[in-house]
Amino acid sequence: MIRQSIAAMSLIFACSSIYGEVVSQKSATGNSVLYREVCKNAAIDDSIFQNFRSIEAYFNAVECGQGGEFADYIRSYATLKTISLMPQFRKLEQYGNPIKNEIQGFGQFSGTTLRYILIADHISRLFNLPKNYKAAEVGAGFGGQAYILSQLRPFSQYYIYDLPEVEMLIDKMMSTLSLRKVICLEAHAELPVEGIDLFISNYAFSECDRNTQLDYFTRVIVKAKRGYMLYNDTNIFDHLPLTEFIDLLQANGINPTIHPEPVFSYTGNALITWDMTK
Ligand SMILES: C[S@@+](CC[C@H](N)C(=O)[O-])C[C@H]1O[C@@H](n2cnc3c(N)ncnc32)[C@H](O)[C@@H]1O
Repeated sequence: MIRQSIAAMSLIFACSSIYGEVVSQKSATGNSVLYREVCKNAAIDDSIFQNFRSIEAYFNAVECGQGGEFADYIRSYATLKTISLMPQFRKLEQYGNPIKNEIQGFGQFSGTTLRYILIADHISRLFNLPKNYKAAEVGAGFGGQAYILSQLRPFSQYYIYDLPEVEMLIDKMMSTLSLRKVICLEAHAELPVEGIDLFISNYAFSECDRNTQLDYFTRVIVKAKRGYMLYNDTNIFDHLPLTEFIDLLQANGINPTIHPEPVFSYTGNALITWDMTK
């Protein structure tokens, strides 16, 4: 997925400085005019909403392949609770017409939803999250990770930072799914709470340029007791390479653990987690 997105995005860059005097955000997906247009159109037009996950520019930016490896991982490691919720998770597939495959034992699923299930399950096994925890995600796609987590490990608030058009789409998806605890924040807004229990950013923070990354770092990441970040290091903008980001975390008193991606997708990708409560 990420390989495809980098290739596709590099063809369709357009400079964006839509935020004026504040940090002018750049990222692979953010600079794709086509991707942003699909998100906006899906948010305002029901017929496009019914299909957006299959539209090429969207698929290349967010969706991933067939999902067999994610399903294997889920079969091998997921908790019984996760497995028991598979039918509930499938609700995510009802919108946007994702490309699905018959997955043995689980039924029809897209690779992307299986990836969100894998990640939610992994988070539930790695962290002892408090009841009513608060989470924040930078770069949330259509909000699929939030939906899957809401079923497996319900939260009291889930804040999302994404691009304006993408947040329009996330708002539409969340209201369609009746998920009211997800709040999209304007890209430069402060978190409305002092701290959060869990920070998530998968293939998103790592796709932003250095200024954007540093901005999110000081506004959001340092306020997170726990973190789960899938980091891809193929960013074409000046950015924080994995090693520099780890140094930055450590310099701010966060001791991360670096794991391989649960399912390998590209050389150099890594999973970064931390838990300050341990
Ligand atoms: C490759 S997609 C990953 C989406 C999702 N995390 C997933 O795992 O499927 C990158 C995400 O980062 C978002 N993004 C791009 N630029 C951003 C920015 N400046 N701030 C926040 N999110 C951004 C995109 O809109 C998209 O949701």
